[in-house]
Amino acid sequence: MRQTDSVPIDARRRLRPAGIACGGDYNPEQWPEEVWAEDVALMKEAGVSLVTAGIFSWAKVEPRPGAYDFDWFDRVMDNLAGAGVAVCLATMTASPPPWLSRLHPEILPETADGRRMWPGGRQHYCPSSRVYREHAVRLVERLAARYADHPALEMWHIGNEYGCHTPMCWCDESAADFRRWLSERYGDVDALNDAWSTAFWAQRYESFDEVLPPRLAPTFPNPAQQLDFARFSDDALLQCYLAEKEVLRRITPDVPVTTNFIGVHKPVDAFRWAAEEDAVSVDVYQDPHDENTQVSAGFIFDVTRSARAGQPWMLLEQAPSAVNWRDRNGPKPPGRMRLWSWQAVAQGADAVLYFQWRQSRGGAEKYHSAMVPHGGTGTRVFREVSELGHELASVPRIAGTRSTADVALVLDWNSWWALELDSHPSTALNQMEIALAHYRPLFEAGVNCDVVPPDRDLSGYRLVIAPNLYLLKERDAERLTDFVRGGGHLLVSFFSGIVDDCDRVHSGGYPAPLREVLGLRVEEFWPLAEQDTVDVRHPDGTVSRADLWTEAVVPEGARAVAEFGSGPLAGQPAVTRHSFGEGQAWYVATRLAPEAMRALTDDVCRAASVSPVLPGLPEHVQATAREGDGGRFVFLLNHGREEAEIQLPEPMTDALAPGAIPADRLTLPAAGVAVLSKP
Ligand code: GLA
Repeated sequence: MRQTDSVPIDARRRLRPAGIACGGDYNPEQWPEEVWAEDVALMKEAGVSLVTAGIFSWAKVEPRPGAYDFDWFDRVMDNLAGAGVAVCLATMTASPPPWLSRLHPEILPETADGRRMWPGGRQHYCPSSRVYREHAVRLVERLAARYADHPALEMWHIGNEYGCHTPMCWCDESAADFRRWLSERYGDVDALNDAWSTAFWAQRYESFDEVLPPRLAPTFPNPAQQLDFARFSDDALLQCYLAEKEVLRRITPDVPVTTNFIGVHKPVDAFRWAAEEDAVSVDVYQDPHDENTQVSAGFIFDVTRSARAGQPWMLLEQAPSAVNWRDRNGPKPPGRMRLWSWQAVAQGADAVLYFQWRQSRGGAEKYHSAMVPHGGTGTRVFREVSELGHELASVPRIAGTRSTADVALVLDWNSWWALELDSHPSTALNQMEIALAHYRPLFEAGVNCDVVPPDRDLSGYRLVIAPNLYLLKERDAERLTDFVRGGGHLLVSFFSGIVDDCDRVHSGGYPAPLREVLGLRVEEFWPLAEQDTVDVRHPDGTVSRADLWTEAVVPEGARAVAEFGSGPLAGQPAVTRHSFGEGQAWYVATRLAPEAMRALTDDVCRAASVSPVLPGLPEHVQATAREGDGGRFVFLLNHGREEAEIQLPEPMTDALAPGAIPADRLTLPAAGVAVLSKP
């Protein structure tokens, strides 16, 4: 893979907005030019300091192959510059124009069963397509040269949500690219045969020419082939991004680049991509119909912040109110958009942007909310957006501050891809569900947490949590072992440490590379039927329920801290604890009910001397902290439906309540936010 340098955003031009940036996707091509002057006037009214523009402009700036019309876009950029609005300029390559797929139908992606995906939506390109990449790069060359010195240009927004609609392609060109990728990875076909265990089911290859992507087959395609195809597909998308980035670095070396992740998205390994960005950005659409939406969003925010080791990041898209793409699209009730925006800032964001500026009249997203709704500016949404824009601008000192965490939760895309393959003891294991089950108790307790890949330096953490780390390389297992040996605390959940990088079971009994540190072996997996639950007996005499999965654990130094109380494994360990070196390692052999998971997490945090940002938080109140040159800020966010009383350790002032006197007690209304600092 080609590597390009990556320069921290701090070392480049700062984002022009001196504090927390606010704005949205600006798609002026949807509107007659008369509207553009009003756009910038309203942007000022709404406190907009940054827009991301041009995302879907390809067909208008290059209406025919090689015939460019940037004049209209010059006027867009000039208008924005004139109003002092900075631009995160999109490279315009997210949706190829109709002429490109008409002249080159081979750019269109194909599914695993050989169906072609036609134009008419967006992202209808095969990530391996040379023709697509050549045309994209040619456009980016023009764009970069044209706007390199434009005063509005602040950042580059490469592509848009890579892998959102077309994460993988199984066409012949992808097949050829996959073979090239495999031959680079393995060198010779014998190494591939070994890595893919092709002795099984007579799959041995004589040459790379025989290898295909895992297309629709009569039964389970080779798992290692599927795993490598996930890696390859992620890489093919990354190569599209890097091809554009290379142009931008050459022509505008001082302008930072980003691309917006779509939440925590299985096809795109955010940790690998983030190393190729100057600032990480993400799109998060909290669901007003989901009462735990803040927890899953919180997890995404923590992944995003951790992807570049705590560097401030950008919420590049959220909805001002409803979206259009769920089955039922509830609007955000009053105050929730503000609350969820502040949640992003509380978890490290330095920019809060929306999709999109002006609500479309036509097209697939006309029922998606926008900052300027169909009803215009006399609307609740415009009022809330404008109030928030000014409120965010009122606390510029937050920008650039960072949070620290004593806890790291391990997430590995390779393990995620492998865990969710078919032909497993249970196909009900879902990486995000398990990760969230371990994340939620920390979130609810107000414990700051980073989310890290398994090869990240763990030395600064007191506690590491590894939920379902199914695929684990020997050397990463050694690092976890050393972490505990040196005094760290480790919590590992079931079906972890099972296979190597090629999805081959580690020899030596499950979970071979973790047996020493955990002080146990797992003799047999015992997944549960869909509606089944088992009892778990805790040392204090309480009984909780568990579901999904159980395992026959044989302690080899670890002691049981909870046992199965019913089912085929009754009397055997459900949770164990092992003193190892200077540290402790816990193992959870089932999926505990949320209350039991919370109690266990609290115990483990206590043992590891991990403290919450504030002790004794009321239910539904989130607490985080950010610190830096601007000072130390404690964020309190009431996600509940009732007001909450919060006791502070010392008198503090709320930056969002100017004029309020310092107090050591605080009443936070439902959806309320406080940004506290010492007077
Ligand atoms: C994504 C895309 C946007 C828009 C929004 C709608 O985030 O990047 O172009 O489609 O979804 O929610």
